[in-house]
Amino acid sequence: MKHQVSRNLKELGLSGIRVLGQEAAQYDDVITLTIGEPMFNTPDEVKEAAIKAIQENFTKYPPYQGMPELRQAVVDFENETQGIEYDPSEVLITQGASGALYVGLGAILNPEEEVIVFDPSYVAYYPIIKTFLGTPVIVDTTNDDFQLSYDKIKAVITDKTKAININSPNNPTGVIYNKKSLEALKRIMDEHDVYVITDDVYNQLIYDDAEFLVQDKAYKKKVLYCQSMSKPFAMTGWRIGYLMADQAIIEQALKLQQYMAAGIPPFIQIATIEAFKTDVKPVVKEYKENLKAAMEILDAHDISYVEPKGAFYLFIDISKSGMTSWDFARKLLKDEKVAVVPGLVFSDDSDSFVRISFCMDRHLVIEGLTRFARFLNR
Ligand SMILES: Cc1ncc(COP(=O)(O)O)c(C=O)c1O
Repeated sequence: MKHQVSRNLKELGLSGIRVLGQEAAQYDDVITLTIGEPMFNTPDEVKEAAIKAIQENFTKYPPYQGMPELRQAVVDFENETQGIEYDPSEVLITQGASGALYVGLGAILNPEEEVIVFDPSYVAYYPIIKTFLGTPVIVDTTNDDFQLSYDKIKAVITDKTKAININSPNNPTGVIYNKKSLEALKRIMDEHDVYVITDDVYNQLIYDDAEFLVQDKAYKKKVLYCQSMSKPFAMTGWRIGYLMADQAIIEQALKLQQYMAAGIPPFIQIATIEAFKTDVKPVVKEYKENLKAAMEILDAHDISYVEPKGAFYLFIDISKSGMTSWDFARKLLKDEKVAVVPGLVFSDDSDSFVRISFCMDRHLVIEGLTRFARFLNR
């Protein structure tokens, strides 16, 4: 039939993260702990820089790859914070990390090639891989404390494996890959010709020192580093991020970026240069206080959870409720007016978990979790 839509896209669902938040709209006074939306507003200096840039008519088509001044600011910021050395030609400005993941995966994937994804995982990975006709290959990390295992990765490597997708700090668990995980990954990269797509959008929001794959320059050529202004700088609505990778990859990703978006608005790019001057330490301190308050409530009620080392999510074990994660989330919403994300959204193996965000105002986190604990333990 001529009028059918794409078979490939039809198969994909919409993100489950927002479903409960939308269902919450039919109730009054709901505490929504679903979305990873920072409680802060975009810094005033960033807003002012955007307004000034509009008034100065930075409103025309931008260079597709991103403004050279911004790409230099990205290089400087990443050098200062991660100690990595890239050239501005190895940076592509994208529509958030979502855009970076999309053009990055699109740049390397051929139909039927495989990408290893560690579950539980952020909701965008499978759909993007499938959009490019690739095949996601799942490795569940639940029984490895959400860390990576050399043996488990090795067991799923085939001659079709093109890339491995990692996310540290992780959404939904907040886990940061430890030394052993990074060593496992590097060993695989030494043994096989695979790329690693590393989604590090939370690497500014960490509660202890941590190491990241991107910091090891020995692997630079094989790494696609996806970044976002959304979370650390409270710029979720600005839709800006970047991909850093070998020039050969950037060249291909640029084609996708060009035909899809024809660049990112120039006044947003100019404001983003200003954002890099923001000190994120006070923000991290606030989230850390929220986390402390949240853990105190869960501990006091004998509720198990994965202790996050970064990001602003708590992955909470609800197995003692005896309910599926969707039933639990819907009943919690109905009975206690608290919205959370069912674990099943992140993995078939996470039906005994739900995710809450703790990047909201502290009183909401405390009240929301107090109701949550009462519901789980009743
Ligand atoms: C792990 C992860 N990657 C990527 C994104 C998308 O970020 P952006 O707003 O930059 O598109 C999110 C947003 O929640 C995320 O949690």
